[in-house]
Amino acid sequence: MASDRQKSAGPGHVAIIMDGNGRWAQSRGRPRLFGHHAGAKRVRQIVEACPELGVKYLTIFAFSTENWKRTQVEVAGLMSLFRRYITKEARALKEEGVRVRFIGDRVRLDDKLVALMDELETLTEENDRVHLTIALNYGGRDEVARATKRLAQDVAAGRLDPEGVDEETLPRYLDTCVLPDPDLVIRTSGEARISNFLLWQSAYAEYEFIDTLWPDFSPEIFSDLVGNYGNRERRYGAVPA
Ligand code: IPE
Ligand code: IPE
Ligand code: MG
Repeated sequence: MASDRQKSAGPGHVAIIMDGNGRWAQSRGRPRLFGHHAGAKRVRQIVEACPELGVKYLTIFAFSTENWKRTQVEVAGLMSLFRRYITKEARALKEEGVRVRFIGDRVRLDDKLVALMDELETLTEENDRVHLTIALNYGGRDEVARATKRLAQDVAAGRLDPEGVDEETLPRYLDTCVLPDPDLVIRTSGEARISNFLLWQSAYAEYEFIDTLWPDFSPEIFSDLVGNYGNRERRYGAVPA
């Protein structure tokens, strides 16, 4: 696997933990939801920047399984924002060649939102210019637990031989089963933690933790981070040649 150790031209799959909306709003004396709206507006620009930067897959963390702990006002406001965002952006995403997928557990989301998510996935399923994956009610541990449950069901039903279970087996049950692993994970807002994002998939990802709050994130910053990635050598545990 010598080629794995060579410097990469660029990250084909970038995942972003879009953090800092609340602090951005609070620093302006505005309610947290104002920051979430400003943050949502940023997404389009970042998606549009992808093709030129060679980023084929972009995965963004929009709402975690832990975010239900927030006030009812914030959670309801976010759910309403997701519904409005999907409705408003659907046509542009379709026309710009963006294929949209959602990962996370849909069971706890309301029916109206789930219907919009399904529609957007279907509407864009022929697209291949950029693959945008939105993590909504997503938690890495929850995803692994749900995957394990289905894997166990297959074993119990005799469809899967437990002796054959290896590193390639579990990913087939994850929400991300059709996606490559992320090459680069970016977190905005100065927090240096991953907050339960893509736990299995990020085993060998490079990380960038930057101070910028998500509503201030720009295509220029994105381009710089993607550029930095090309200077890193990924070794996958081997000794450099
Ligand atoms: C990220 O911004 C968006 C979501 C988690 C939905 P935050 O809302 O976490 O913003 P901060 O971290 O409080 O500033
Ligand atoms: C992570 O941000 C989740 C999203 C960006 C959707 P949080 O703000 O929820 O993470 P913590 O609470 O700081 O770890
Ligand atoms: Mg936060």
